[in-house]
Amino acid sequence: MKRYHVTTFGCQMNAHDSERIKGLLEELGLGEAPSQDQADVIVLNTCTIREKPDTRFAAHMGNAAKQKRERPGTVVAVGGCYAEAQRERLFALYPDVDVAFGPGTISHLGAWLGAGGEGVARGAFGTGEERAFAAGLPAHRERRFQAWVQVSMGCNSVCSYCIVPAVRGRETSRRPGEVIAEVERLATEGVREVTLLGQNVNSYGRDVGSSFAELLHAVDGVAGIERIRFTSPHPKDFRRDVIAAMAECAAVCEHAHLPLQSGSSRVLKAMRRTYSRERYLRLVAELRASIPDLALTTDIIVGFPGETENDFRETLEVAEEVGFDGAFTFVYSPRAGTEAAAMPNQVSDEVKRDRIERLVAVVQRVAAERNAGRVGSVEEVLVEGPSRTEPELLRGRTRRNTTVNFSGDAAPGELVSVSIASATSTTLAGAQLALAAA
Ligand code: 5AD
Ligand code: SF4
Repeated sequence: MKRYHVTTFGCQMNAHDSERIKGLLEELGLGEAPSQDQADVIVLNTCTIREKPDTRFAAHMGNAAKQKRERPGTVVAVGGCYAEAQRERLFALYPDVDVAFGPGTISHLGAWLGAGGEGVARGAFGTGEERAFAAGLPAHRERRFQAWVQVSMGCNSVCSYCIVPAVRGRETSRRPGEVIAEVERLATEGVREVTLLGQNVNSYGRDVGSSFAELLHAVDGVAGIERIRFTSPHPKDFRRDVIAAMAECAAVCEHAHLPLQSGSSRVLKAMRRTYSRERYLRLVAELRASIPDLALTTDIIVGFPGETENDFRETLEVAEEVGFDGAFTFVYSPRAGTEAAAMPNQVSDEVKRDRIERLVAVVQRVAAERNAGRVGSVEEVLVEGPSRTEPELLRGRTRRNTTVNFSGDAAPGELVSVSIASATSTTLAGAQLALAAA
């Protein structure tokens, strides 16, 4: 049996897409190889949000090329956002690529790999117009009890730093009936937690006569689904009805990932985020007033063109004031073709490095304080498997999305109560309650 290996770069949407790529390849009769060097079909599902994933792809491609020389007949397929962004040049840049596809053309992969007996269609690449939801394809899910659910594709925002709208195109929502049918099917298969995915997930629905708040209510109504998560929302589309739906729907978790990007209204304006520092803080206050015990996480960029020391200090202030439970922090990375890449006053690497270090220090201290506040509490944990660091412990996540390492005897997919005894900036630790009491 021929074997495939998929490497995933980038965001949860790519993780979702990779499960579909695997499902499709398995339907074609391929099995999964434990590593890239044992695969007959190598798939790289790429990202191009910053320069770093581009570089990581180049390194992986180097290995794949070497493997092809050693084992002629190995097929290299490259998908995802880097492939889409470089569609005109990909085969020239990387002559070892056999087949390329974008986030919207995954369904063609089978035909291009020669499943119809035609042989590999070298150099194939679908046109930008024929986008389709990967959600329609079979899935090979990593976990029996958790699933990604794609609700929309593309993004209509114009954030000046971001390459995604150019790569993933205009926003298109899936029909609510289709999403709900998928969630119902997942529930019958044993899924307890779904994560709704969209590049701008809470602007869902306008093009299909629905709304994100309605969708949350509908998913909440599916029996068996005990946890609903969603990512990534845009603060500008976090309207009252979405906050109310979060508060009213029992299965919607007490967690919002709310990308701040900058705490300076001046920088936010240049980023075209369409909210100010004050409006962001107001939204946080409204969320916290409606959803007790809400966890807030965020994305922050430092070193955006023209960002001054004062702008940066405002970001530090907002990070302190909000008290994020966690944050992904990024150094601004110019992406060719975006508005910000052409802006004057690019910030030097030295200043960017200094700022990211200071930001990370604040983010970690605040997150450690927030987690320390959970010590002594009892948390509902969805068990995911053995702990990554200490195999005799179990690992799972709270509704607030914090990882917990704990002693216990539960199976993956079970919901258990864990008494929290200690905390770091990113994890909690404790003991499963029944055991603690015994
Ligand atoms: N440089 C650095 N970070 C970026 N992000 C998006 N584009 C860039 C860029 N050009 C960050 C944003 C976004 C997250 C997914 O990646 O913070 O929310
Ligand atoms: Fe990377 Fe953005 Fe594409 Fe996700 S949507 S894979 S983060 S470029």
